Amino acid sequence: MIQPENQILVIFGASGDLTKRKLIPAIFDLAKQNLLPDKFAIIGVGRTKLDDFNFRKKMNADLYKYGDASPEDKNLVDQFCEKLYYQALNTSDLEEYSLLKEKINLLLKELSIPANIIFYLSTPPSLYEIIPENLAKTGLNNSNKNSGWKRLIVEKPFGTDLESAKKLNRSLLNFFNENQIYRIDHYLGKETVQNVLVTRFANGIFEPLWNRNFIDRVEITSSESIGVEGRGGYYDHSGVLRDMVQNHLLQIVGLIAMEPPVEISPLSIRNETMKVFQSLRSLKVEDVKKNVIRAQYVSSTIKGEKVPGYRDEEGVSDNSRTETFVAMKFFIDNWRWSGVPFLIRVGKRLPTRVTEVVVHFKKTPHTLFRNISSADHQQNQLVIRIQPDEGLLLKFGTKVPGAGFQVQDVNMDFHYSDLNNTHLPSAYERLLLDCMLGDSTLYARGDAVEVAWEFVQPILDVWKKDCEVPLYGYPAGTWGPNDEVKGLLDDAGKDWRYPCKNLSNDGEYCEL
Ligand code: BG6
Repeated sequence: MIQPENQILVIFGASGDLTKRKLIPAIFDLAKQNLLPDKFAIIGVGRTKLDDFNFRKKMNADLYKYGDASPEDKNLVDQFCEKLYYQALNTSDLEEYSLLKEKINLLLKELSIPANIIFYLSTPPSLYEIIPENLAKTGLNNSNKNSGWKRLIVEKPFGTDLESAKKLNRSLLNFFNENQIYRIDHYLGKETVQNVLVTRFANGIFEPLWNRNFIDRVEITSSESIGVEGRGGYYDHSGVLRDMVQNHLLQIVGLIAMEPPVEISPLSIRNETMKVFQSLRSLKVEDVKKNVIRAQYVSSTIKGEKVPGYRDEEGVSDNSRTETFVAMKFFIDNWRWSGVPFLIRVGKRLPTRVTEVVVHFKKTPHTLFRNISSADHQQNQLVIRIQPDEGLLLKFGTKVPGAGFQVQDVNMDFHYSDLNNTHLPSAYERLLLDCMLGDSTLYARGDAVEVAWEFVQPILDVWKKDCEVPLYGYPAGTWGPNDEVKGLLDDAGKDWRYPCKNLSNDGEYCEL
């Protein structure tokens, strides 16, 4: 494994949730595997007044709370925390950046390393333009052989619509080059998402079938059983379309649908994803009305416990029209996928936590075994389980032993957990390491982000005129407005895959 060059990581938003829950635990895991540079330091930047000592103390405790650290790791945790520093800063105030510059210079001198620096923006998005500008004005964006490289990681959300995403791109490009900008989409860091590429392009058996001749439809489900978990204030201005579809799920579509890349490199992979996004059929008003279903969870009882509705959540308006569920059908107009429906179903407060891609293969061209009941044997399915219980499942028909030719579905099932001694890195672990190594393959490119926004923008536009399409209410713990969602499949005999049954029987869905 190549080790990253010596460097410093500066995290803006260091007193926030992401830092303690994901970033620091991910970097600690890298430390445990000896994957960090020999000389390395992290400077946390935040508004909260803290010094190095107290930041270390806090992160030390948080590593046990949110990370993988166990009491046996005490020495490692203590050593790791020695690499942490803190700079209190009002990020909107240009003058204060000299404090950061001083701190960085001091550390560079102490470590005696070139100024290789990653700046990680984990702040509210309203600061995504101002921080890079202030870094530039303080001379902290210069990247060259003598002064070391500079990279900028930008967390999601990347804009709230097409216009704002374009504006943000333009603004970032004033101060950093495209090859310095790493737009994070943590789904691309998931091992199983990357495994889509390996499944497709390292095996001879799947790719020949991977097209309109053999695939009936592709279904992507991303269901969460939790609600908005105290993030109501953010979520009520976002909704699941912006929160999950525009970024994470379209990135999965990109990997499922792309042509074989020339090589595994940032340029080739991202060019191929871009071509998929460019081939997404634009949604007209009629398509949005017919093929995009939106819904919001309402209160229900799950396993005897009352679960609040979305509008009862803190930070959510009493008459909110924000969607917590979306199901949609769309097409990719290119040679490979012409006429194959792609289906997405995503939401909060659904019956279980699961993200999976289901590739439904076409039926055999001729039915030989006439007494097959559709309940026993369906179309062949390849299920790519992204989380949890990561793995691959192939469903196919086999003969029931005994007289006649009864067919029933059986599974060939691979679970990552069956691999011995394999550490499944967290998404942030993988992505942070890639950025430290200067590999942007699994980061979103600016133009692709814009094209993804271009695709979802017509949906936002139609929904803005609120009365045009219904907003359904679904009892928390159910699969959403199921009749409507099933209606997206053009054949009554077809259905979605349900990884688990409804958990709540509290009434039907209704229009809100
Ligand atoms: C985030 C969304 O990007 O992804 C959250 O903002 C969502 O609303 C989360 O819960 C899901 O990520 P994961 O990795 O738990 O599937």
